[in-house]
Amino acid sequence: MNLDAISSVAVLGAGTMGNGIAHVFAREGYTVILRDVEKRKLDHALETISKNLDREVKKGKVPENELPRILARIEPAMDLDAVSGADFVIEAVPERIDLKRQVLAEADAIMHPEAILATNTSSISVTALAAATRRPDRFVGMHFMNPVPVMKLVEVIRALQTGDATFDTTMQLCDKLGKTPVAVNDAPGFVSNRVLMPYINEATFCVMEGVATVESVDAIMKTGMSHPMGPLELADFIGLDVCLDILEVLFRDLGDAKFRPSALLRKMVAAGWLGRKSGRGFYSYGENSTGRSK
Ligand code: CAA
Repeated sequence: MNLDAISSVAVLGAGTMGNGIAHVFAREGYTVILRDVEKRKLDHALETISKNLDREVKKGKVPENELPRILARIEPAMDLDAVSGADFVIEAVPERIDLKRQVLAEADAIMHPEAILATNTSSISVTALAAATRRPDRFVGMHFMNPVPVMKLVEVIRALQTGDATFDTTMQLCDKLGKTPVAVNDAPGFVSNRVLMPYINEATFCVMEGVATVESVDAIMKTGMSHPMGPLELADFIGLDVCLDILEVLFRDLGDAKFRPSALLRKMVAAGWLGRKSGRGFYSYGENSTGRSK
């Protein structure tokens, strides 16, 4: 399928990444079916998109009069059949391989034969996921960064089976969304998380070994390297459970001890201290899990 043939898009999963992806497609003029199995998640996603669009209006990035039109392009759905007419489907369900395989196989079975199926996985093999579908040549990785409406990068991951036409259309689609696509071959953690997660993990080792406090580690990396967030603030933002899951994949699939998660990270996840979303991680967060307090 070429870029011009794509007019309607479906996003599977209305969590943090799914709602961000729906936001950027709708902002660009696409009709978006946002599908989740839980109504509560869909309601929350639409509220979040509306709040984040307001933020963009205030920052002058989206004209105020566009707002209702953008929101009207997003159609929430619980029934999978709603995605059958989409030209491009992107999966953003939680990072569990069995769940992803199941959701992808179900969508594949009802999608138009020419439509492209993409996954937003952050670490699972795109090649293995492509193999769960009957359209492996029309399957691709499309890894957005959080927060999706703001971050420019999309890693476009070529599975072993991805066809050139699928890959090229996906790269062009990212350009059209105002993103910066970067081509990567399928490998554990791709490039983004293979490089980012050992950095975050090492910061947790520094705290665990008493090299410096949480605040000092973050201050050093923020002010010394001009990063917008320190590694521990960023870990809280991503979710400590997500960081741990990705490190486990890197450790297992690359078989190198340098990827072993720190005991501190494991303990915090076991305690349910998952970062912003749980109200506590390396920092504590207020009622709505926004803002940082020491
Ligand atoms: N849509 C959604 N969220 C937005 C947004 C938008 N348009 N604009 C800002 N945000 C979010 C921030 O997360 C934060 O949330 P709260 O207000 O709810 O606390 C808030 O908005 C901060 O907004 P500010 O305007 O105060 O901050 P900012 O615009 O100056 O910068 C930031 C915020 C863009 C997140 C910046 O701190 C940054 O670039 N941080 C690093 C982010 C990063 O590295 N992301 C990649 C993570 S790794 C990943 O995603 C891959 C993976 O697989 C794990």
